[in-house]
Amino acid sequence: MLQVKNLTVHYGVIEAIKEVSFEVNEGEIVTLIGANGAGKTTILKTISGLVRPTAGEIVYQEDIIQKATPRAIVQKGLSHVPEGRHVFSGMSVMENLEMGAFLRRDKKAIRQDIKKVFDLFPILEERKDQDSATLSGGEQQMLAMGRALVSKPKLLLLDEPSMGLAPLFIEQIFRIIKKINEEGTTILLIEQNAAVALEIATKGYVLETGRIVESGAGKDLLQSEAVQRAYLGA
Ligand SMILES: Nc1ncnc2c1ncn2[C@@H]1O[C@H](COP(=O)(O)OP(=O)(O)OP(=O)(O)O)[C@@H](O)[C@H]1O
Ligand SMILES: [Mg+2]
Repeated sequence: MLQVKNLTVHYGVIEAIKEVSFEVNEGEIVTLIGANGAGKTTILKTISGLVRPTAGEIVYQEDIIQKATPRAIVQKGLSHVPEGRHVFSGMSVMENLEMGAFLRRDKKAIRQDIKKVFDLFPILEERKDQDSATLSGGEQQMLAMGRALVSKPKLLLLDEPSMGLAPLFIEQIFRIIKKINEEGTTILLIEQNAAVALEIATKGYVLETGRIVESGAGKDLLQSEAVQRAYLGA
């Protein structure tokens, strides 16, 4: 479904990503893990067209997309839930969800998809008329995911969905990620929380200062030295 080939990204003279290659097959949950500054967010931003690579190729469902606009990429069914949530403050929960459908015209199906988001996250329905800025951090995370789901993604990019959440919320968010996947959405997940991410992932890649240093099946990777290094400073 997604192939990233020899991707290199610079910020000015700094090479943030160095010839990174990986792939995501339809139906999988793939996780990218790595320490702060390893380049995880940069990879997601490059896939969704927000950052331009200096070299390499990104193929999504047989289209080469590294020169496509973010809008065209969303239109192809690729949605990005950015780091740090980014809900639209000053707008209600419902209005935020409707923003997720800005490229869709099928009003009735949009209603049904918003209803599905409320089934996944009942708290959002209770808060639907509330200004999104007044939601708790965990609720904002749910809203950001809900908004992405309303765009009907085939591939969902999630940038650290558990950041800053209490253990109970983390468990809930991961259960929902799994459920979204089981209902047919492929997922590329970035996480600090390597143990939980590798638990639900089909496969994972470990990123160290812009390079992939290890990859493998989710649970095997947890034992690897690269993961220990990234998270435990070993
Ligand atoms: N717009 C930018 N301009 C210059 N350097 C940047 C920019 N964005 C990111 N970087 C640098 O690129 C490197 C990779 O950053 P990135 O945000 O991709 O890391 P990350 O793996 O997502 O880290 P974290 O876990 O802390 O979110 C870092 O050294 C960062 O300082
Ligand atoms: Mg990041």
